Amino acid sequence: MTSPVRIVLIGAGRAGRVHAHSLVHHVPGGTLAGLVDSMPETLRETGTLYGVDAQYETLEAALNKLDFDAVVITTPTFTHRALAVMAAEAGKHVFCEKPMALSLEECDAMIAAADRSGVFLQIGFMRRFAPEFAAAFDRIQAGEIGQPMLVKSLTHGPGLPPPWARDLKTSNGMLAEVNSHDWDCTRWLMGSNPQRVYVETANFKGPARGVDTPNFYDNVLVNIRFENGGLGSISGICPCDYGYDARVEIVGERGIMQIGEMQGQPLVVCTNRDQGLVTPIYRTWPDRFAWGYIREMEHFVHCIQTDTPPQATAADGRWAVAGVLAGTKSFLEERPVYLREVLEAAAV
Ligand SMILES: NC(=O)c1ccc[n+]([C@@H]2O[C@H](COP(=O)([O-])OP(=O)(O)OC[C@H]3O[C@@H](n4cnc5c(N)ncnc54)[C@H](O)[C@@H]3O)[C@@H](O)[C@H]2O)c1
Repeated sequence: MTSPVRIVLIGAGRAGRVHAHSLVHHVPGGTLAGLVDSMPETLRETGTLYGVDAQYETLEAALNKLDFDAVVITTPTFTHRALAVMAAEAGKHVFCEKPMALSLEECDAMIAAADRSGVFLQIGFMRRFAPEFAAAFDRIQAGEIGQPMLVKSLTHGPGLPPPWARDLKTSNGMLAEVNSHDWDCTRWLMGSNPQRVYVETANFKGPARGVDTPNFYDNVLVNIRFENGGLGSISGICPCDYGYDARVEIVGERGIMQIGEMQGQPLVVCTNRDQGLVTPIYRTWPDRFAWGYIREMEHFVHCIQTDTPPQATAADGRWAVAGVLAGTKSFLEERPVYLREVLEAAAV
């Protein structure tokens, strides 16, 4: 029998708890061996919730005191590079939440460290593992709707993101924090890299909610031209207030495919004629993508156990970061931006 993969979770906040839940309840091949969080209170709370006694305030302390195989990094974006490089250099496989990092240089440092140590580096693109997204990809590959011509992807999140995620300097803003998944999925489903993007942003709710972070926006619209001539769009809204909404439409030469719906349950309720239809919609991202989070963690563990390179690779993560950087440049400079402008700048 293959022994369980011992995993240390770094960052015991919102996303950390989703992965802790998967590892403890749904992924028998992996064990949650330890927790790292720089906030002692968060560390204690999450440790109690998931019955994990091995708790550390730094990754260094965990590396010194505990024997384990892999890390799951669920800390803010600006910490990903240092933690991933340290873990990889210590010979640990790395699962890193999206956005992979703040810059292409940071992505390259993470990739180089993983390559040097011969460890896997998987990025948290759980939509690729959500059953309906995976099925759509397979059916596009099988030619069911012909060559994709247009991919439209939207993510609308209910509430204001945490302060670090509102600031371009620590997160690259909503294009990264909310729309990383859309950057990845449009490229994945189109089967081509983005070539040129044009982005418009707007700020409707920020001022009334006390957000004075420079360049903050709560609405964003991205137009994409892909290298294969296909077109794409991404829309992001956060806070949208009405729930968590993630949907994709792919139009091919021979048909159309829609992924996702707003309804959280296949039940339609109508109680009286004044109220009309009362149909619950997804409220949160852990709710909307419950199976995606479980299946991506199963995949990470399975890849380590079978020595198979993971899907949702560091190269995919790097492309999403490149899209974010080109998109940010586009709205700041008010012009279409070719991806090669950011790719070549990183190669210098
Ligand atoms: N895949 C998804 O759908 C999804 C959803 C939400 C968040 N995320 C990603 O997960 C990451 C974390 O987001 P979140 O919303 O959970 O943030 P959060 O603020 O809720 O949690 C982050 C935790 O990391 C801890 N931390 C910060 N720096 C640290 C360090 N150097 N070492 C150890 N602990 C540290 C903080 O104390 C905090 O508890 C981000 O990259 C975010 O984009 C992904």
